[in-house]
Amino acid sequence: GRVRVPTHVVSSICDDRGEEPTYNGVSMSELMQGDATVADAIGLLWFKRRLPGYATKFIEMCVVLCADHGPCVSGAHNTIVTARAGKDLISSLVSGLLTIGPRFGGAIDGAAQYFKEAVDEGWEPDEFVEKMKKRGIRVPGIGHRIKSKDNRDKRVELLQRYARTHFPSTRYLDYAVEVEGYTLQKAANLVLNVDGCIVGMFTKVEIDSIVKIGYLNGLFVLARTIGLIGHCLDQKRLGQPLYRHPWDDVLYTK
Ligand code: ACO
Ligand code: LMR
Repeated sequence: GRVRVPTHVVSSICDDRGEEPTYNGVSMSELMQGDATVADAIGLLWFKRRLPGYATKFIEMCVVLCADHGPCVSGAHNTIVTARAGKDLISSLVSGLLTIGPRFGGAIDGAAQYFKEAVDEGWEPDEFVEKMKKRGIRVPGIGHRIKSKDNRDKRVELLQRYARTHFPSTRYLDYAVEVEGYTLQKAANLVLNVDGCIVGMFTKVEIDSIVKIGYLNGLFVLARTIGLIGHCLDQKRLGQPLYRHPWDDVLYTK
């Protein structure tokens, strides 16, 4: 029989060898016939399947709602400073993207991991929060620098409203909201944030596989890339000079 030489690379999401490229077996022509959106490409290339309409709409909402949150957040600030240092678009973008992590925008997979554990273990929300405190871990998906009980995050409200009317299950969302109910008793800024809210949209089966691989921070990265590119182009258009932080905003100490 034929002996197959082992390959150095294995790929299972796409194929570019035929007449037209395919994403997980679906050709470009098929995608265009159905007016495919960015979310359809994400479904095929990230999740390796055609996502139902309610899920693609949700992904589109996340991308639009998380594209930007002003010039003062970590990512935009880095991008602005880098662009003002005369660097190119990609350097400015990457400099902003590198701030995405456990505190800023990259808490989605962490929230999935800990909400899954809490639900699997059957912990009451207050029990969960107190256990996390004992472990010295801030609950990912909870807390915000400027949003609070009396200044709610509109993104969270809009995503929640969509999920409650279109999603088959809101088990994790319900749990996250209960967690928020408890954390808000501790401090007004310990709201369910957009990272935590995104996790709430997924079902148990999805959460199980999300936790294994960690897909979801990608959603924030993708969305925020739009805003960061915007900030870089904005600085260049405005011809902004090199940024230097003012001395009087630094506490020089020993
Ligand atoms: N869980 C439990 N307690 C918390 C949490 C949390 N997620 N966040 C803050 N606290 C508590 C802290 O324990 C702290 O008390 P302590 O000083 O006695 O330990 C108090 O609240 C103040 O904490 P700070 O870190 O000063 O609060 P800050 O407003 O700076 O934090 C932040 C905001 C970074 C978002 C924080 O809440 C956090 O780390 N959350 C978890 C990560 C997360 O979800 N990030 C995504 C934010 S949304 C986004 O970036 C799109
Ligand atoms: C964001 O989307 O960048 C944030 O929610 C973080 C912030 O501080 O506004």
